[in-house]
Amino acid sequence: MRIQEHVPLAPRTSLELGGPARFFVEATDDTMVAEALAWAARRGVPARVLGGGSNLVVADAGFDGLVIEMAQRDLQIDGNRVRAAAGEPWDVLVARCVDAGLAGLECLSGIPGRVGATPIQNVGAYGQEVAETIRAVRALDRATGHEQLLTPAQCAFGYRDSMFKRDPDRFVVLEVTFELVAGGAPALRYAELARAFEGDASPSLSEVREKVIALRRTKSMVIDASDPNRRSAGSFFTNPIVAPEVADAVVAASEAPVPRWPTEDGRVKLAAGWLIEQAGMSKGTRRGAVGISSAHALGLVHHGGGTTAQLLALADEVRDAVRARFGVTLEREPVLWA
Ligand code: EPU
Repeated sequence: MRIQEHVPLAPRTSLELGGPARFFVEATDDTMVAEALAWAARRGVPARVLGGGSNLVVADAGFDGLVIEMAQRDLQIDGNRVRAAAGEPWDVLVARCVDAGLAGLECLSGIPGRVGATPIQNVGAYGQEVAETIRAVRALDRATGHEQLLTPAQCAFGYRDSMFKRDPDRFVVLEVTFELVAGGAPALRYAELARAFEGDASPSLSEVREKVIALRRTKSMVIDASDPNRRSAGSFFTNPIVAPEVADAVVAASEAPVPRWPTEDGRVKLAAGWLIEQAGMSKGTRRGAVGISSAHALGLVHHGGGTTAQLLALADEVRDAVRARFGVTLEREPVLWA
């Protein structure tokens, strides 16, 4: 195990912001993860786990502890069960499943990052979320040093949420098992995606995958070196889930039709991107080296040469504008290492 010192984290994040890791190790197998955690415990330094860095905001001061980058690769498809190591790139897994005719992940195409991060915030897009197909998560319990095979119920998934997110220092996700549907039809639940296939009775999994990637591209939500909005962490805020009275107040306060969806528990999900624009923070707004994506108001982007402090100041400005206009408080979606 080679522990490096003063390793820049900005190039390891999609925002390309933030300072260095005091200590850094690339874990290419699970034993290295356990050894690295033990090393940090012996030195009395905190340890954090890094995946693809596409949902992470690192403070300008960096992280004064050990960063363990999850770089284990392993992908096993056995019938309709798929098992992948935490360090496996997410979209490699999705592409393999689509090619194998396994339905259940096709709408999650084109998402950056690694497999191990997906249960943490229950990654979702275009009508699917990983909670629907995850059957087990093998994780290292940092309290005991032992591995556990966690059930979906133990993961306690919610919208962009899980037990892992609520208790971030407890487990390190090592491997995820999915159960998919062999020969299954693609999910066309998201209105925007369903519309794209109007008149096409039964698109294939790979047609849906390609369409999802194309839709994501129009919103600068695929990492593309030629896209001026490419330095982002995807959606910077979650879509607020509010009481019906709060949603009614937003409707009353707005002349434009309000995009909103009822949730199973009787609340209403609002579109954060819409709230941001209606609060006067337009797509393409610039504040020096940071700004709002010109393709999607939920994307805060770094244009190069900026700082995390600038990005967080813009996030506060956006949050304040939405709160002042609608009385709704947006919550940050990416993880912040501060
Ligand atoms: N909208 C605007 N202005 C904008 C963007 C969106 O008015 O700038 C409106 C749209 O017109 C639409 C509604 O907001 O009525 C929803 O927009 P969209 O379909 O683009 O999806 P989203 O709710 O903004 C969520 C996820 C994305 C995911 C898409 C597609 C969250 C926080 N974001 O975005 O996930 O790709 O749905 O399923 O739930 C991510 O988490 O990083 C992410 C990219």
